[in-house]
Amino acid sequence: MIYTINNLFINTNEKSNRKLPEQITINGWIRSNRNGKNVGFLDVNDGSSVNNLQAVYNMKLENWKACTSLTTGSAISVSGNLLLTPGKSQPFELQVTNIIIYNVADPNYPIQKKEHTNEFLRDNAHLRGRTNTFLAVFKIRDQVSWAIHKFFHNQNFVYLHSPIITANDAEGAGENFIVTTITNNKYQDDFFGQKASLTVSGQLNAEAYAQSLQKVYTFGPTFRAENSNTSRHAAEFWMIEPEFTFANLQDNIKLAQALIKSVINDVLDNCLPELTWLNQKQVTKEQPLIDKLKVVAGAKSDFKVITYSEVIDLLINAQGAGKEFEFKDIKWGIDLQSEHERYLCEEITKQPTFVINYPQSIKAFYMKLNAMDVNHPEQKTVAAMDLLVPGIGELIGGSVREDNYEQLLSNKKQFKIAGDGLQWYFDLRKYGYAPSAGFGLGLERLLMFITGISNIRDVIPFPRTPNNLSF
Ligand code: 4AD
Ligand code: MG
Repeated sequence: MIYTINNLFINTNEKSNRKLPEQITINGWIRSNRNGKNVGFLDVNDGSSVNNLQAVYNMKLENWKACTSLTTGSAISVSGNLLLTPGKSQPFELQVTNIIIYNVADPNYPIQKKEHTNEFLRDNAHLRGRTNTFLAVFKIRDQVSWAIHKFFHNQNFVYLHSPIITANDAEGAGENFIVTTITNNKYQDDFFGQKASLTVSGQLNAEAYAQSLQKVYTFGPTFRAENSNTSRHAAEFWMIEPEFTFANLQDNIKLAQALIKSVINDVLDNCLPELTWLNQKQVTKEQPLIDKLKVVAGAKSDFKVITYSEVIDLLINAQGAGKEFEFKDIKWGIDLQSEHERYLCEEITKQPTFVINYPQSIKAFYMKLNAMDVNHPEQKTVAAMDLLVPGIGELIGGSVREDNYEQLLSNKKQFKIAGDGLQWYFDLRKYGYAPSAGFGLGLERLLMFITGISNIRDVIPFPRTPNNLSF
């Protein structure tokens, strides 16, 4: 019977007296092969666990000779008797009775037993899943995805598939990738009879359905031709966008916090071996990964909430006290730079922090204008919220949506949105538009936070970034 290594570990870990199988088969890949004259030791990994199975074979095997020259990376099926080995580094080992060799890896297989840098492994992204770090990351990515669906499903949110091909630039940042079948830019003759692009956000479409289903969320790939070659930006990334009606900014903040805590708790419950591996590999050891996650996910600590105006004051004060920022011209109205965001949540609040009520001019056209502040009538703000987290910066961006038709039309002008392609979106406001709020959570940024991996390229199987379309 074919078993997984993960299952064997669960059976031996639990005190439930579960009987271990005696005769088992494991399908997998060789991590190492050491052998002497009569006996050999294989470390086999089957992808189910960051733990390997030690398999002991001897010269009685019919294909003993072939087995002794099995290389790292080779694909095999190994059968035998499982022996408990309490006290040893592994709780059990396999006494091999049979090895089927499927494919012997070429000796220049790049993933050898030594440590490889993440940069080297990025160049070998087709093979990096065979290392423990990437095995751990992608098992966690799977768990996080399920946990997100579970969270929303349990709260009666409806999973909505927003389109991938679209004519709108929801964020108005001009970062769309064009989808075309022509080469002459005459989009009126193109497939859709107009210019089409890959979506930067499913929000506008989600808003339409939130006006009947009340609570919806999208979870899919999004695309941005943002030419910022940073460790936190990808041209293709996955975004989760809840949108819910009869909701205000406070409800939005609560939902975002509950989601993050719930997902982290789910990973702590289900991916401890993987987190333990990453914990021990962690480059920056200021706070062990698992401890950090437990604090953030704990029921007691509410994330901090602070207004944009307060942040500006804090940053100016920090500058006054000697803090050097690269971007120095800090005043009300600037777009917060990533160094400011990180300083705020890493040095001042030292915890996940919601920044709310940003200037209208630096946010998207659809955000709801706040009532005028009588002390600062010149400062127009919107009911926006960004969640900033230590080590990453912006993890979530969201807002309450402008529900006033006239105001939205005025925003259209102010933000120089041309054409009438968004008229359907404006019209929602004319047909019983209930107050609506929502946010976007970048899956890869969340994974960076949970795994402690510092480059977005290492939490998505095949990253798409400027000048990189390998694999
Ligand atoms: O702040 P953003 O641009 O918000 C929106 O797209 C809204 N429509 C969301 C909404 O209200 N429904 O993006 C949301 C999040 C960011 O906070 C970040 O985590 C992630 O998406 N993100 C990226 N992740 C990786 N690479 C990029 N280039 C990203 N751009 C945004
Ligand atoms: Mg944003």
